[in-house]
Amino acid sequence: MIIGILKEGENRVSVIPSDLSALKKMGVEHIQIESGAGLAALQPDQAYIDLGATVASRVDILSKSDLVLCIHPPSEAELDAMKKDAVLIGQFNPLQDHHIIDVFAGKGRTTFSMELIPRTTRAQSMDVLSSMAMIAGYRSVLLAATHLPHMFPMSMTAAGSIRPAKMLVLGAGVAGLQAIATGRRLGAVVEAFDVRTAAREEVESLGAKFVAVEGATDDTKAGGYAVEQTEEYKQRQAELIADHAAKSDVVICTAQIPGRKAPLLVTEETIKRMNPGSVVIDLAASTGGNCAHTVNGETTIVDGICILGYSDLPSSMAADASKLLSKNLVNFVALLIKEGELALNFEDDIVAGTCLTRDGELVNARLKQILKR
Ligand code: NAI
Repeated sequence: MIIGILKEGENRVSVIPSDLSALKKMGVEHIQIESGAGLAALQPDQAYIDLGATVASRVDILSKSDLVLCIHPPSEAELDAMKKDAVLIGQFNPLQDHHIIDVFAGKGRTTFSMELIPRTTRAQSMDVLSSMAMIAGYRSVLLAATHLPHMFPMSMTAAGSIRPAKMLVLGAGVAGLQAIATGRRLGAVVEAFDVRTAAREEVESLGAKFVAVEGATDDTKAGGYAVEQTEEYKQRQAELIADHAAKSDVVICTAQIPGRKAPLLVTEETIKRMNPGSVVIDLAASTGGNCAHTVNGETTIVDGICILGYSDLPSSMAADASKLLSKNLVNFVALLIKEGELALNFEDDIVAGTCLTRDGELVNARLKQILKR
């Protein structure tokens, strides 16, 4: 069996050299890597060669591999070049980009999309969304600190004292909690808000203040995810967020419900109430943003407030992002290989839950429900 690793149009790589030995232990006969695939993540071709891989052209990787590993999907023409029964694994963003499902279907492909890994205990070591959100949460605070014309920590000097920066984090999932921890380490006074009741304890354990809105819909049976709230709750929430954002120097937006448009939490009115020089980092930019002024991939300045909507933060920390991604991917691949050959066991809930298309048919239950197919 041959595994092929593609080069991406960004800095991360799907598998790093130190994880090749795990693939070899599964009995994989040969691993080929596209030239320069790991370079931007500080993994030169030679590091792969030293650990037994060969460097090949993109065409060779696509046409000769039984299992192709990547992050972003290859082009439609490249999908045609793949072996008939080859399996493709990457992060294809199918919850937002439904078109990619039709592309894979049209090409008769078997694909697995790592964003679909169930958020269960057994699948934790394969959870790419958590790995990337953790990095994005950290990076978001560093970005805020470089754009803010104030210091984060309190400082008492002979020339006077500087108050600590105030930071508000919206959404206390993986990215939000990492943002809180990073903001606290830099010396900011941090507040956080989340609709999930369980988030309070996690926020407070990191030394931040939880902003509570009364009357949330019961979410104890939602498997750890947020649930839709009533209009009355949303109104109260909007007022409270506006009050707290108006007093904050930094707002980090991370609120999302998977597969839906990001909730609008920082309105145009809220931005008008914020102090000039304040910074909003909107991690939810790619799904519409939590802030009314967010433009995906861009920096916008409105009334002196700087709003950053970057969606590629993991790529900007490519070395560590690739390290986590690679481990997640290799742990998942271990479920698909028996004695050196592909053996797809759809009785396994992680395999079934992550499979997007099988021989061109949409088989993912979650997406079938969303798309009503
Ligand atoms: P998560 O699902 O772990 O956390 C999201 C949190 O938002 C949950 O705790 C949820 O309860 C909360 N939430 C949902 N609706 C809310 C509302 N109306 N008000 C307040 N809180 C609400 O998600 P994760 O993994 O932390 O990702 C967060 C965001 O970061 C996502 O939008 C994700 O796509 C994005 N992301 C962005 C990256 C970038 O480069 N910009 C990279 C990785 C992730």
